[in-house]
Amino acid sequence: MEERRATKTNMIFSFLVLYASITSTHAADTISANQILRYNETLISPHETFELGFFNPGNSTNHYIGIWYKRISTRTVVWVANRNSPLTSTSGELALTLQGVLILRDATKGNVVWSSANSSTTSAMNPIGQLLDTGNFIIQDEAEDIDKKEPIWQSFDFMTDTLLPGMKLGWNLVMGIDRHFTSWKSSDNPASGEFSYLVDIRGYPQVLLMNGQSIKFRAGPWNGLTFSGAPALRPNLIYNFTFVLNQGEIYYQYNLLTSSVFTRLVLQPSGRIERLLWIDSKQEWSLYVSPESDQCDRYALCGPFGRCSIDRSPVCECLKGFEPTSPDQWRVGDWSQGCRRTVPLDCNPAEGFNKYTNLNLPDTRGSWYNQTMTLVECEKMCKSNCSCTAYTNSNVSGSESGCLLWFGDLINIRTFAANVETLYIRFSPSELDLIDKSKSSGAGRSVRVIVPIAFVVLVVLVSVCLFYRCNRKKQHQQGTRGNEFELRENRSDDNEDIELPLFSMSTLLKATNHFSVNRKLGEGGFGPVYKGVLEDGQEIAVKRLAKTSTQGLQEFKNEVISISKLQHRNLVKLLGCCIEGAEKMLIYEYMSNKGLNSIIFDKTQSKLLDWPARYHIIHGIAHGLLYLHQDSRLRIIHRDLKVSNILLDTDMNPKISDFGMARTFGGNQIEANTNRVVGTYGYMAPEYAGDGIFSIKSDVYSFGVLVLEVVCGEKNRGFIYKEHCNNLIGYVWRLHNEDNSLQLVDKCLGESINESQILRSVHVGLLCVQRDPEDRPTMESVIMMLGSESPLPSPKEPGFYIEKTMQNTIRYSRSCGTGSNNKLSITMLIGR
Ligand SMILES: *[C@@H]1O[C@H](CO)[C@@H](O)[C@H](O)[C@H]1NC(C)=O
Ligand SMILES: *[C@@H]1O[C@H](CO)[C@@H](O)[C@H](O)[C@H]1NC(C)=O
Ligand SMILES: *[C@@H]1O[C@H](CO)[C@@H](O)[C@H](O)[C@H]1NC(C)=O
Ligand SMILES: *[C@@H]1O[C@H](CO)[C@@H](O)[C@H](O)[C@H]1NC(C)=O
Ligand SMILES: *[C@@H]1O[C@H](CO)[C@@H](O)[C@H](O)[C@H]1NC(C)=O
Ligand SMILES: *[C@@H]1O[C@H](CO)[C@@H](O)[C@H](O)[C@H]1NC(C)=O
Ligand SMILES: *[C@@H]1O[C@H](CO)[C@@H](O)[C@H](O)[C@H]1NC(C)=O
Repeated sequence: MEERRATKTNMIFSFLVLYASITSTHAADTISANQILRYNETLISPHETFELGFFNPGNSTNHYIGIWYKRISTRTVVWVANRNSPLTSTSGELALTLQGVLILRDATKGNVVWSSANSSTTSAMNPIGQLLDTGNFIIQDEAEDIDKKEPIWQSFDFMTDTLLPGMKLGWNLVMGIDRHFTSWKSSDNPASGEFSYLVDIRGYPQVLLMNGQSIKFRAGPWNGLTFSGAPALRPNLIYNFTFVLNQGEIYYQYNLLTSSVFTRLVLQPSGRIERLLWIDSKQEWSLYVSPESDQCDRYALCGPFGRCSIDRSPVCECLKGFEPTSPDQWRVGDWSQGCRRTVPLDCNPAEGFNKYTNLNLPDTRGSWYNQTMTLVECEKMCKSNCSCTAYTNSNVSGSESGCLLWFGDLINIRTFAANVETLYIRFSPSELDLIDKSKSSGAGRSVRVIVPIAFVVLVVLVSVCLFYRCNRKKQHQQGTRGNEFELRENRSDDNEDIELPLFSMSTLLKATNHFSVNRKLGEGGFGPVYKGVLEDGQEIAVKRLAKTSTQGLQEFKNEVISISKLQHRNLVKLLGCCIEGAEKMLIYEYMSNKGLNSIIFDKTQSKLLDWPARYHIIHGIAHGLLYLHQDSRLRIIHRDLKVSNILLDTDMNPKISDFGMARTFGGNQIEANTNRVVGTYGYMAPEYAGDGIFSIKSDVYSFGVLVLEVVCGEKNRGFIYKEHCNNLIGYVWRLHNEDNSLQLVDKCLGESINESQILRSVHVGLLCVQRDPEDRPTMESVIMMLGSESPLPSPKEPGFYIEKTMQNTIRYSRSCGTGSNNKLSITMLIGR
C-alpha cells in the first residue's frame, strides 16, 4: 500500500534519454521531469532540515532511497521509498516522469525497481518534485496554481516507520487513503516489519498498535483531550496535537511548537512505539515518552469485563458486578476467559446503568457513535436496545458531549487514576447501585413513576446517605482511586468532592496522650510525628507541623485537600487534618512496621527483609513516585525522598510518606529554583543541593540513592569504604566499573539473592544518580527498565561522590548496618 511497484505492463512512461543529472545545481531541493538523481547525489530542503538520497541502512549493503535529517549527526532515516525492493548496486537512478510519477530504476539492468504510482493514476502538465523542510517530498503540477492545489503525490501519505510533525495518522475518507506506519524488519532492513500503528475505524475510531493481524496495544479512542488508553499524551512545550474526526477525514496529528527541536514518533522493529527527542548536547535521540508502558497495556490482558490495575497484585480483577468466567483459570493467573455478570441480563425494561470511573474506554470496534447527542439521549438510546451494554460521552472536552455505545463484551479496560471518562454499564435491576441512581437523576435519569416504590427508594436512600456520611466522617477519608462507583456526581469542582475530616484538638490530645514524648515516632522535615490511638481503637500518626508556614487558612485547607486526593497503594494515606489556632496537624494512617530505615540499617532487623522483599519494596517506591510525578493530577515533586520516609505496612508494602509536603510547606513553585532547600544530605541531587534547582529528576536522584541503600543495606552518607574514601555511590560506581557489583549485596540477604535482579537494580540505581539531571531516566523508564530484560545504557559518572587517595581514611567494616547518624532532614537557606 505504501508503495506501488510498477509492473512491466505499466512501463509506458515516456522515459529516458533527455534526463540530465542534478549535480550541476548544488544543494537543489527540487527535481523536475528532465532530471535524475544518481547514487551520490541528494536533494536538500530549502532550510537544510532534511535530505533525500540513496543510503545503506545499518551495515546492510542494499541501497534505498530515503529521507533523513540533514543536521543530525547520526543518520536518522524517517522515510524510505523502496523499502521492500532494495537495489543491490550503486547504479540506481531516481527520476520524475513527465506524468508526475517518481520512479527508481536500476540503470545497469534497465528495470524500474519502485515507483510512486502507476501511469494510469496521474497526468500532469509540468510536474516538479520538491523536498520540503517538513520532511515531506511532494510532486506538484506547475501548470496548476501550486498554492491552491493539493500535491499530486506526497511522501507524507505513505509513511514508513515514523510519524513526523504535520503527518496525518489516519484516514482521508474521500480519497480512500489509510495512512499508517509500519516498523522496519530490523535496524539493517527497512522492509515492512510485523508491527503497525494505525487508526481503526470499525466503530468509533481508535488508534491501535498491531502485531500482524492481532492487536498488541490500544491507545484507544480520542476522548476530546487525549487518547483514552494513552493519557501520557498531554499538553507540553514541545508539540501540540489534535485529532480530527469529520465526514472527510479522521486523523491524529502533532505539530512542533518550536522549530529548535527535533522530535518524532517511531515504531521500532521490536514493536515499541516511542516518542524520541533529539538532545543536541549529547548528540543522541532520547526517549521522551512511550504510550505503552506496563503490563496493563497488553491488549485484553484481563479478558472481557476484566480490569487491569498496575498497582494491584494480581493486576487483573473483575469489574464490580462481574465474576471470573472460569474461577480455576483465573486463580492461576490465566485471565483470558475474563469475567461474566453475577446476574445475567434478560432484557428487562427496568435494567439500568452503573457508573464506572478512572478507567480507559473499552475496545470500540463494533461500537456506534454520534458526536452531537447529549448524555441523556445517549442513555435513552442505549437503554432502548437490549444488546447495548454500555454508553458514555464520546467527548469529555468542554461541556462533555457526544454518544458512544458498546454492544457485547467490554474488552481491554485498565485503571487510570487520572482519566476523566465515565463509563455507564448496563445491569439487571437487582444489581443497580442505589446511591448512584439517585444522584444521577440530576443528569436526566428517568424518574420513577410508581410512587410507593419511589417512596421506599427515597427512604432507603436517605438512610444510606446518612449512614454513609457518618461513616465517612468516622472512618475518615477512604480512597476514591479505583472506586468503580463514584459516589458523587459533581466531578468538575475539585474542592467539592472530597470532604476531608477535621479532627478536633481535644481528640488528638487524648489520642496522643497530650503529645507525650514517649508517643513521639520521629521528627520529619516539617515537624514531629506522634503515634495516637483514637477512641474506637484506630491507630493514627499525627504530624504536628512546625509553625513556620505563612499560608492562610483556606490556602492550607485547599492544599491539604489536594494532597488527600493523592491515593495510591504506595503512598501513606492522609486521614484528615486539624486546624486550631496556630496549630496545624495532619493525621495519617499508622504503619506498624515503621520506617524502612529502622529495618534495613539495623543488624538484626535487616534479616527480615530478604531479596524478594527488597525488590518488592524498590518496585513499590518506584510506582508511588511515578504516581506523584505523572499520574496524579497535581504532579508532585517529593523533594525529600529517603529511606526514613518509606514506611512499611504489615505486609511489608512500602508507602511513601511526606509527599506533597514540600509543595505545600516548602514553597509553591513546582519546577523551578528555590532559595529554600528542603531535603536531606546524602539524598539530594547536586543541582538541588548546590543551586536549589529541583525537578522530577532530583527526586529520581534520591530514588537512585535509596535503591542502592536498599540493595547494600548501607547508608549513602556516612558510608566510607576502605582506600577510596568514597561514599556509597562512589563505592558502587567503582565496583560497577570493575564488574564487581555483586560484592555490594547486603550480607543479610544470604541465600535469597537473585543475581540478575540485583545487578539490574544497581545499574538502574546508578542511572538515577548520574550527575547531569538530563541523563537520569524518568520514573516511567525506571519502572520499564526494572521490569524488562533489555540491555540498559551505561551510567555516566554519578553526582556527589568523593574519590580521593587515602589518607586519614576511616575504616568501616561492612556488616549489617553501620552506626553512623543520618537521621535529620535539613532545611537550609542558600544565600543567592
Ligand atoms: C559521484 O558522482 C560524480 C559525478 O557523476 C562522479 O564523478 C563520482 O565518481 C561519483 N562518486 C562516487 C563515489 O560514486
Ligand atoms: C551489523 O553490525 C553489527 C555490529 O555493529 C553486528 O552485530 C551485526 O551482526 C551486523 N549485521 C550484519 C547483517 O552483518
Ligand atoms: C493502477 O492504479 C489504478 C488506480 O489506483 C488501479 O486500479 C490499478 O490496479 C493500478 N494498476 C496496477 C498495475 O497497479
Ligand atoms: C499547533 O501549533 C501550530 C503552530 O506550530 C498552530 O498552527 C496550530 O494551530 C496548533 N494546533 C492546535 C491544535 O493547537
Ligand atoms: C446525531 O444525533 C442528532 C441528535 O439526536 C441527530 O440530529 C443527528 O442526525 C445524528 N447524527 C447521525 C449521524 O446519526
Ligand atoms: C441494537 O443495536 C444493534 C447494533 O447496532 C443492531 O444491530 C440492532 O438492530 C439494534 N436493535 C434494535 C432493536 O434497535
Ligand atoms: C469536543 O468538544 C470540544 C468542546 O465542545 C470541541 O471543541 C471539540 O471539537 C470536540 N471534539 C470532537 C472530536 O468532537
